[in-house]
Amino acid sequence: MSIEKAYDIWANQYDTNKNRTRDLDKRSTIETLSNYNFENVLELGCGTGKNTVWLLSKAKQVVGLDFSREMLNKAKEKISDQRVAFKKTDLNESWGIDNNFADLITCSLTLEHIDDLNPIFKKANQKLTKNGVLFISELHPFKQYTGSKAQYETDKGTKELEVFVHHISDYVGSAKSNGFKLLEINEWFDNHSKKEIPRLISFVFSKI
Ligand SMILES: C[S@@+](CC[C@H](N)C(=O)[O-])C[C@H]1O[C@@H](n2cnc3c(N)ncnc32)[C@H](O)[C@@H]1O
Repeated sequence: MSIEKAYDIWANQYDTNKNRTRDLDKRSTIETLSNYNFENVLELGCGTGKNTVWLLSKAKQVVGLDFSREMLNKAKEKISDQRVAFKKTDLNESWGIDNNFADLITCSLTLEHIDDLNPIFKKANQKLTKNGVLFISELHPFKQYTGSKAQYETDKGTKELEVFVHHISDYVGSAKSNGFKLLEINEWFDNHSKKEIPRLISFVFSKI
């Protein structure tokens, strides 16, 4: 099943099922981006708008891109604010966004589904203003090495989605070769316990 179709099905339970990755990502997003000012936000893989609500509390406008119609429908049900636009877009294709549109681009739990990071960093650079910030929060590659991946429950058992492993050097290298410098890197642990494998990794890059 395609990733897009799987998210169309997952959409009904995405916000309500137990999901520690989703919940920790909300924390990593808020704790990190509380320290930044931004006005025009582009959210890549916005899904059901879990983070859009918080981003809007600080931003003038947010544009959310996602290729799952059903995930976007959930986001639209949740958020009816004229300062938000949700657009059905495949991130592997053209984003239909003006260059220099955003001073912040966020991408949470989405790059796991993207094989080649380079075109994403390249387009992110084009869409950001100078010194604009790119925030990425993803399942930690250490977790990926143990076989952890995006999945949801169905009547017929667990449905695992197609994912791609990205090493830390993949993120940092691709960012560097597409005109970004690294400002922050953080690891996020269940229950704040550093004795476990970190669940998430987050990066803050700025456009040079
Ligand atoms: C795990 S969800 C994360 C949603 C949201 N960012 C969050 O943190 O709750 C991943 C999202 O990425 C979207 N996605 C995956 N691959 C995509 C692609 N190539 N183009 C657009 N959206 C994509 C899925 O449709 C899904 O909504």
